[in-house]
Amino acid sequence: MDFFGFKDSDLYAESVKISDIASQYGTPLYVYSKATLTKHVQAFEAALKSRKHLVCFAVKACSNLAVLNLMAKLGAGFDIVSEGELRRVIAAGGDPSKVVFSGVGKSESEIEFALSQKINCLNIESPEEIDTVIKVAKRLNVVAPVALRVNPGVDAKTHPSISTGLKNNKFGVSEELAFDLYKRMASEPCLKVSGIDCHIGSQMTSVEPIIEASEKLITLYNKLLSAGIKVDHIDVGGGLGVIYDNETPPSPEEYVAPILKKLEGLDVALYVEPGRAMVANAAVLLAKVLYQKDNGDKHFVITDTAMNDMIRPALYGAKMTIINAYKHADVPAVKSDVVGPICESDDFLGKDRSLSVKNGDILVVRGAGAYGSSMASTYNTRRLCAEVMVDGDKTALIKKRQSFEDIWKDEIIPE
Ligand code: LLP
Repeated sequence: MDFFGFKDSDLYAESVKISDIASQYGTPLYVYSKATLTKHVQAFEAALKSRKHLVCFAVKACSNLAVLNLMAKLGAGFDIVSEGELRRVIAAGGDPSKVVFSGVGKSESEIEFALSQKINCLNIESPEEIDTVIKVAKRLNVVAPVALRVNPGVDAKTHPSISTGLKNNKFGVSEELAFDLYKRMASEPCLKVSGIDCHIGSQMTSVEPIIEASEKLITLYNKLLSAGIKVDHIDVGGGLGVIYDNETPPSPEEYVAPILKKLEGLDVALYVEPGRAMVANAAVLLAKVLYQKDNGDKHFVITDTAMNDMIRPALYGAKMTIINAYKHADVPAVKSDVVGPICESDDFLGKDRSLSVKNGDILVVRGAGAYGSSMASTYNTRRLCAEVMVDGDKTALIKKRQSFEDIWKDEIIPE
């Protein structure tokens, strides 16, 4: 459920007409709905209310400070994968004690920064990372809260590029190694064994894979308990899918309910790390139609918005809904490829879409809030685009359009 919808022929973000937003701020433009973001955070909080829990928004999905600030105000914690993301969370007013740090390649200095900020938990992903954490914790004279990210070997049944819990994925440590590694961590006075973690993939549209992964984590939890090692939390990662086209993902409640059931009788908190489900449908990307033409069998709608602004279609073949912000009564629909100005054949937002379009129209890529702006680049020396947040009948600029000089400000021409 989101707060983008038509009134008569015009698309609105909450109470503001999309075409007015495009005229005021220009295009390309990301437009977020505050009410939608709020609703999504509250949906996870409500789904988990029966148990001690922590909702850690995966910052990589959308890292704008205004979005992080809103999440923090709504009580969310954060899942981070770099020092930069932790610094963003802090800059946005987030609480480090609600931050978990994932990632296969945390450097010594990143671990040091995270421990100095007293984060909630380091999700360790390899035996060698344990050594580094011990070294840093001893140097800082602190006790490091840790979990192991276990790779449960479960097929998330999603796109191969966004599957993370298979044995041949780089993430986590194998189930077979996990128990011995926990015993080793528990014997180190400078480590506090705090949790068990996994993340098996993204854009999951059924609950079965996450149930299977949770069962494996619970088995490990019980085995550790028998060995005298008691963890405080189980972290089942992110992964809940959203509707881009005609998917039918479970709701946050349907997603966590079977996990909560499996945890009945266990004295352990449940952590989740949703990224996409929190933000995808809370934003749209606006693209202005510049030209139209026919080449061969194809009709092309050429917009000012490109793969540098939204790379998911080019990178994963992701199908994202594209609509016109204005419903024409008098323009016939034509099967079109929606493309951008970048010099790559894969620079497209959508292929073979039935669209009624006039030049100058604003096209709207839906579900653009997750892995949109956060994966944008300046390829072809295109500026990172502006971002706006709508709150009822008000709009606020939450990211300025980059200046051209900003793109090359760190480059140096040698003498
Ligand atoms: N936690 C960890 C450790 C992760 O690696 C991820 C995502 C998440 C949480 C959040 O997962 P989500 O709830 O968003 O599914 N760029 C790709 C998605 C990559 C996801 C990587 N990990 C895309 O645009 O589809």
